[in-house]
Amino acid sequence: MKGLEAVLKSFDTQAQIEYYDTIDSTNIRAKAWAKEGASTGCLVIAKEQTLGKGRLGKSWESPKDDGIWMSLIVRPDIVASKASLLTLITGLSLCETISCVTGLEAKIKWPNDIVVNEKKVCGILTEMQAETGYVKYVIIGIGINVNVEKFPKELPYATSLKLEGHTTYDKKAIIKKFLEIFYIYYNQYKAYGFSDMRKTYIKKCINMHKKVNISNAKQKFVAFVKDIDEEGALIVEDEQGTEHTIFTGEVSVRGLYGYV
Ligand code: BTN
Repeated sequence: MKGLEAVLKSFDTQAQIEYYDTIDSTNIRAKAWAKEGASTGCLVIAKEQTLGKGRLGKSWESPKDDGIWMSLIVRPDIVASKASLLTLITGLSLCETISCVTGLEAKIKWPNDIVVNEKKVCGILTEMQAETGYVKYVIIGIGINVNVEKFPKELPYATSLKLEGHTTYDKKAIIKKFLEIFYIYYNQYKAYGFSDMRKTYIKKCINMHKKVNISNAKQKFVAFVKDIDEEGALIVEDEQGTEHTIFTGEVSVRGLYGYV
């Protein structure tokens, strides 16, 4: 079996992996590494994070050995406004990876949580650096609850592959499959944009044609999810019949009676 390094070299021959037993956050390290010039395909993997970061300023539980806590550096030659699509592409790749490796039915909760049995198994935090409107680098931070057996009671919607699949999974096999799938979608995206994978994404999206609560700093409302457009934005209709385009970013989308 090809090692992880070999798969990463297909992104860029300069790609390398840094492994840590304990780190504050793989995203923090990847950002520093990217500033030092790390190429596309450079990957930071840690057994444990002491300061794992989640979306919307939340923290991310990263217990020792039980999960995949990693950050991938990419440098696509794209305008900054298209970078948020990388989150969707990563979500799609992770969803397919989890289904393929575990046989569990994984779904995407827009924009980028992966859920199994309506609970979250995986989260993505992408952080971008741009200059004169173009992407310099993007850090794709990925947290997968692989063999975690217990979650704090403050996380009622969190689960792990082990809790759902009743078996222990090989983390390296999951990382490798993810990199292989992501490589295909990443190249497709650079060449043709999101439109080619939009239909596949929609099929896997658990929010489609459901009522959801949309909330961000400015507004909170109930809406029906109608579509996902070519830019990866969620098209929803509120209870007054007005259509809204919801962009990824500082927004939370929740089911009316639970997480999805
Ligand atoms: C979320 O769903 O809120 C995003 C969670 C992202 C967690 C991962 S774990 C590896 C990487 N390093 C971090 O500090 N965060 C991301």
